Amino acid sequence: MGFDLGLTGRRALVTGGTRGTGAAVAALLAEQGARVMATARKASALAAPGVAFVAADVTTAEGAALVADEVAARFGGLDILVNVVGGSASPPGGFAALTDTHWERELGQNLMAAVRLDRHFLPGMVARKSGVIVHVTSIQRQMPLPGSTTAYAAAKAALSTYSKSLSREVGPEGVRVVRVSPGWIETDAALALADRLGDEAGTGRDGGREIIMRSLGGIPLGRPAKPAEVADLIGFLCSPRAGAITGSEHVIDGGTVPVA
Ligand SMILES: NC(=O)c1ccc[n+]([C@@H]2O[C@H](COP(=O)([O-])OP(=O)(O)OC[C@H]3O[C@@H](n4cnc5c(N)ncnc54)[C@H](OP(=O)(O)O)[C@@H]3O)[C@@H](O)[C@H]2O)c1
Repeated sequence: MGFDLGLTGRRALVTGGTRGTGAAVAALLAEQGARVMATARKASALAAPGVAFVAADVTTAEGAALVADEVAARFGGLDILVNVVGGSASPPGGFAALTDTHWERELGQNLMAAVRLDRHFLPGMVARKSGVIVHVTSIQRQMPLPGSTTAYAAAKAALSTYSKSLSREVGPEGVRVVRVSPGWIETDAALALADRLGDEAGTGRDGGREIIMRSLGGIPLGRPAKPAEVADLIGFLCSPRAGAITGSEHVIDGGTVPVA
């Protein structure tokens, strides 16, 4: 007998739902019978079948409002919000290389996008006494890499603490708030980086993967997670099967974080 996640007919929004982890989450939720809308700045030819799309920059207040309006118009409300958008575009060079603009961009992308979208959708979830919000953090919130990702790691730490506080506030209202903290995920962008590093070192993709894993202090399982594996975890957390889980952060990193 299959393991039914009980997601049929649930209305879900996945930010960053056209590539990498977000695309895998959107595809999984749609496959499980949910009504899914993905958002990103550009539409993707690879969007999963049955997934609706709205183009917006969710790091802006206007973009978040546009997405909220589109969800209201097409779905009338939301049962599941998966905040996947995040990332870092800061230069290497440690603290001195980070200007106010870099800090604002990292906080905008990794913290404020989720804060604003949650604020749009929480009143409806609270009124219905039902809903799930997922925040995708990163192991870097516990294990920052100071050479290149201080601002990203700090923004993810802020997202994590915000998520915990929100879970305590809205848990009694029937809304669950959980975090998923990935280590290295082998997205297409990650594979392109492995190829580039491998070409530079003359070792090919496998050598490039080793370089990335070494920069993380090694991955005990010896490989990154696949986007579909992160999606499986998120799909379970969104499902009624995880009805007793809230306020927790779920690490999926092949054992990278070296402490308990
Ligand atoms: N990849 C990893 O190894 C890793 C590790 C730990 C944590 N994470 C976290 O996992 C999440 C997903 O990462 P990923 O690597 O799977 O992502 P990704 O492959 O880089 O995809 C990013 C997605 O977000 C969209 N996006 C980016 N900026 C946006 C914006 N301003 N407004 C709307 N959409 C935007 C992109 O589409 P457009 O460009 O068209 O907007 C795309 O759909 C992020 O929060 C990241 O911090 C990733």
